[in-house]
Amino acid sequence: MEPINVFDYEQLAQKRMPAVIWDHIQGGSEDEVTLHANRQAFERLRLRPRVLVDVSAIETHTTVLGTPIHMPIIVGPTAGHMLVHPEGECATAQAAEQAGTIMIVSGFSSRSIEEIHASTQGPLWLQLYSYHSLEVTGQFVQRAEAAGYQAIVLTVDTAHLGKREQDIRNNFQRSRFVPLANFVDNDVSETPLRHLVDTWETVDWLRTITRLPIILKGILTPEDALLALQHGVAGIVVSNHGGRQLDGTISSIEALPEIVQAVNGGCEIYLDSGIRRGTDILKALALGARAVLIGRPIFWGLAVNGAPGVHHILDLLHAELTMSMALAGQPTLSSLEPSLIKRPDQRM
Ligand SMILES: Cc1cc2nc3c(=O)[nH]c(=O)nc-3n(C[C@H](O)[C@H](O)[C@H](O)COP(=O)(O)O)c2cc1C
Repeated sequence: MEPINVFDYEQLAQKRMPAVIWDHIQGGSEDEVTLHANRQAFERLRLRPRVLVDVSAIETHTTVLGTPIHMPIIVGPTAGHMLVHPEGECATAQAAEQAGTIMIVSGFSSRSIEEIHASTQGPLWLQLYSYHSLEVTGQFVQRAEAAGYQAIVLTVDTAHLGKREQDIRNNFQRSRFVPLANFVDNDVSETPLRHLVDTWETVDWLRTITRLPIILKGILTPEDALLALQHGVAGIVVSNHGGRQLDGTISSIEALPEIVQAVNGGCEIYLDSGIRRGTDILKALALGARAVLIGRPIFWGLAVNGAPGVHHILDLLHAELTMSMALAGQPTLSSLEPSLIKRPDQRM
């Protein structure tokens, strides 16, 4: 089968990996209510297309924190790419560069952040949690700066690791399959994530130790978005971690409008969780996201065909976005507005 959309890659990818790894990548937490809500929420939003607009040229170039990208689609941070391909994150980074976009490298990458940086000319951001000591976290941020990473993405929805029941039943431990390449000399494992004590003071501290812009990933309420602004962040990612953390949360696309309204242009807003189609991206952009992050589909592309597979996933999404912009009568990103969307609760 020649894959023509992201779901085709999903099917092909399942055949390429052992069930224990597949379950780990696909799974959400507990009853997977949020995992499914992410897709359902996109499907419930309906588009209000305009016609007889000149759409002979569609413009998808944009910038994120001043960095030009070819399309408002970014590779989100996911741990352990060597789970599905021997080149791991280096292949993913090369694909992101070829597609003209940014990759956010997970701190739990299976190739070191220096190796990944050396494998690409493209812009990279680094995602981290705060680890068991501020010293370890601080050293890691300094390594990222020295290597040339352009922003720090602090994930804030992981005070405990979500209860991922597939992983529990399979007794999945990532370290049995792939290294935590960034922490070979340090006593860092994922275990401390179960006991993280992060507060807004951690964000203030982070700002004192780096000149890089800070983005918080995992915001779902306007209350927290406003606090993030007060604590000087450059961006936020509206995200429920692809349904892998607190089960039963609102989907990120449902959370987006009130966050956009509260932030009122004070920082850039990105979104992830459940993006599988160009129309999903169009909806997120129309509701105020500057760009979207892609999680699981990156693994699918990598498992099926390494760097070219990831590149193809990004190209497919870009092509679908371009086509849906044309069909919706929206030739530029700046023309996208909430009026393009009808929400289920909305009377027009
Ligand atoms: C296997 C896997 C590993 C992940 N690892 C991380 C991580 O290390 N750091 C992080 O902030 N988010 C991590 N995430 C969450 C993603 O960044 C993202 O929020 C989520 O996958 C988006 O949803 P989607 O998979 O529906 O696109 C991971 C997700 C998956 C599926």
